[in-house]
Amino acid sequence: MDKEKIITLAIESSCDETSAAVLEGGRTILSNIIATQIPIHRKFGGVVPEIASRKHIINIMPVIDEALSKAGKTLDEVNQVAVTYGPGLVGALLVGVSAAKALAFSRNIPLIGVNHLEGHIFANFLSSPDLKPPFVALVVSGGHTSLVHVKDYNSFSLMGQTRDDAAGEAFDKVARVMGLPYPGGPQIDKLAQEGNPLAIDFPRALQEKGNYEFSFSGLKSAVLNYLNSMKLKKIEVNKADVAASFQHTVIEVLLAKAMDAIKETGCDTLVLAGGVAANSSLEKRLRETTAKNKVNFYYPDKILCTDNAAMIGCRGYYQSLAGKYSDLYLNAVPGLALQDLE
Ligand code: KG4
Ligand code: ZN
Repeated sequence: MDKEKIITLAIESSCDETSAAVLEGGRTILSNIIATQIPIHRKFGGVVPEIASRKHIINIMPVIDEALSKAGKTLDEVNQVAVTYGPGLVGALLVGVSAAKALAFSRNIPLIGVNHLEGHIFANFLSSPDLKPPFVALVVSGGHTSLVHVKDYNSFSLMGQTRDDAAGEAFDKVARVMGLPYPGGPQIDKLAQEGNPLAIDFPRALQEKGNYEFSFSGLKSAVLNYLNSMKLKKIEVNKADVAASFQHTVIEVLLAKAMDAIKETGCDTLVLAGGVAANSSLEKRLRETTAKNKVNFYYPDKILCTDNAAMIGCRGYYQSLAGKYSDLYLNAVPGLALQDLE
C-alpha cells in the first residue's frame, strides 16, 4: 500500500482531553476532534482523576464518530489505530486504550501504542511539513520537562529532564496560590504581559554548563515564600510583576539549556513541544535567540501544542513505518518515560 495513503485513526485520553483524529499518511490531518473537560475540573482547581475517567467513557465513542465523519471516512477505510498508552492518569488512559484495542480487534487492523511525550514532539511534523530530524526537542508540558536529541523518526536520546516539578506544573501551582483559575499557564501568560519581568529576582536551579536536568520546585517555593512574606508585612503585591518575573525565570532556564543542547549535539534546529509551548513569551524569546544564533526554530500551531489525537496519529504513523506495532495485551502505563530509542 502507498504509505502516503495509510489512514490512521488516533485516540488520546491521557488527562482531561478526550480526542480522536484521522490522518492520511503521516502529515495530513483529515480531522482532529478535542472534547475538553477543563470547565468541569476548574471548579476543583485541578484535574480530578475519577471524574476525568468517567467523562472519557461518556465522550470517547461520540468523539471517534465525529472524527470519522468529519474526515469523510468509515471504519472500513481505517488501516490502523494509534493510541496514547502513557504517561498520564491510569483510569483516563485505560478508556482510550480499551477503545483502541476493541477497534483493532474487531476490524483486524494493527494497533500502535504511542508515548504521549513523543506525540508532543511529533506535533511539529504536522505544523511544519518541511521539518526533518535531526533536531533538539524541548518538551514542556504539564507533567514533563525534557530535552531530547531526536536523531531520526525512531531514534531518540534523552539529554535531561526535570528532577521534580515540570514547568507547566509550576505555572499551574503558582497561578493557584495567586487565586487564578485552572489551568494556570495561560492565566500567568496573560497577566505577565502587564508586568515587569525583572521586578523580582527568583532563583534558577542547576545552572552549571552541560547539565540538562531541570528543577522548578525551588522556584515555585520561592514565589510562594515571596507572596507569604509580603502578606505578613501587609505589603500589597503587584501580581502582574510576580507573574512576569516567575515566567521570565522559567523561560531563561529553558532557553539557556536548550541553546547549550544545540551546541553539544551540533544540531542546527530547535523544536518546541508540549502545552507550555503555547506560552507567547517563551515562543518569542526562543524565536529571537535562535534567529540570532542562526538556528532553525519550529513550534506547533496552538491547537497542536496542548493535548490532541492528531499528534498521536503522527507519531503512530512513523512507528508503523518502522514496524513498531503493539499487541492486544497493550496496557496503560501511567509512569511511562521518554527514553532513549535506537
Ligand atoms: O501538554 P499538555 O496539554 O498536557 C500534558 O501533557 O501535561 O500541557 C498542559 C500544561 C498545563 O500545565 C498548562 O498550564 C500549560 O500546559 N499551558 C501553558 C500555556 N498554555 C498551556 N503554560 C504557559 N503558558 C501558556 N500559554
Ligand atoms: Zn500533553
